[in-house]
Amino acid sequence: MQSTLRKKLLDAFTEHEGEFLSGQYLADLMGCSRTAVWKHIEDLRNEGFELEAVRRKGYRIIQKPEHVSANEIRLGLKTSLIGQQIHYKESVDSTQKVAHRLGMENALEGTVVIADEQIGGKGRMDRRWHSPKHTGIWMSVILRPQIPLSMAPQLTLLTAVAVAQAIVENTGLEPQIKWPNDLLVNGKKVTGILTELQAEADRINSVIIGIGINVNQAVTDFPEGLRAVATSLSIEKGELINRASLIQTIFLKLEKLYLLYLETGFHPIKLLWESYAISIGKTITARTLTGNITGKALGINDDGVLKIEDKNGVVHSIYSADIEL
Ligand code: BTN
Repeated sequence: MQSTLRKKLLDAFTEHEGEFLSGQYLADLMGCSRTAVWKHIEDLRNEGFELEAVRRKGYRIIQKPEHVSANEIRLGLKTSLIGQQIHYKESVDSTQKVAHRLGMENALEGTVVIADEQIGGKGRMDRRWHSPKHTGIWMSVILRPQIPLSMAPQLTLLTAVAVAQAIVENTGLEPQIKWPNDLLVNGKKVTGILTELQAEADRINSVIIGIGINVNQAVTDFPEGLRAVATSLSIEKGELINRASLIQTIFLKLEKLYLLYLETGFHPIKLLWESYAISIGKTITARTLTGNITGKALGINDDGVLKIEDKNGVVHSIYSADIEL
């Protein structure tokens, strides 16, 4: 009930952007008293919205919060699994750590931890993930699929497809996937995905999927060392991107693909993944812990393993590596 009223209020402000809306108009629209409207306005202020109130004119939104509130994400969310529970944090060490704790505490499948800033954001291969405040999407999703451990990497590829689809839908940009899970726009990285497991023997307790997306950073927000290789959606699009709306679309795409995967297996996901893949058919170098392999990228197999054919015709299976194009 509360959230329905809030949705009506926010929808009205969206429709009449920049205009004053009177307390009476809002009360009629929301089907509640003017005092109740005032309380909702106060709630919005507490969430970081800046609102102007003028006698005889009413209220108007001057500025939306820089952070993304859980309410903003819940409003209009069309999923039934992903994001039903949202733990929003202003600042955390790493959303992965919070999600791991919640995973152990039997959090529901689909629970998401989102932070406006990460102090100790984790990347693949023990790297750090730069996660400044107000600009990106830093979140971890808890899934509890009943699949063998060996199939868990498929979920990383599935997530990369879901994020790619959401970026296309919300921004019109054309992301490409670099195996296994980097999303690039115009050749620079906009998204990284880190999948971690909680398991006993061969039974998965939970899969924690960490998603980091550079959304609204300006070039100067990136450390100098990253500027040649990383970019943000906003830099590439030339305008600010609504983070709450992008998160909602990611939840929806992720849920659709995950349910499809549970029902039919990895094959349709593999085809989608390949349609976004940057490297298939090209000569690439895989930098693995045991050495470098250069050759033609043939594609991925059903386990999400990358196949590279070297100049002698030997096909190598790559399980973990950094790829150089
Ligand atoms: C990569 O190295 O490409 C993976 C980066 C994953 C970053 C995300 S941000 C949200 C989640 N929390 C973390 O600490 N890491 C992941």
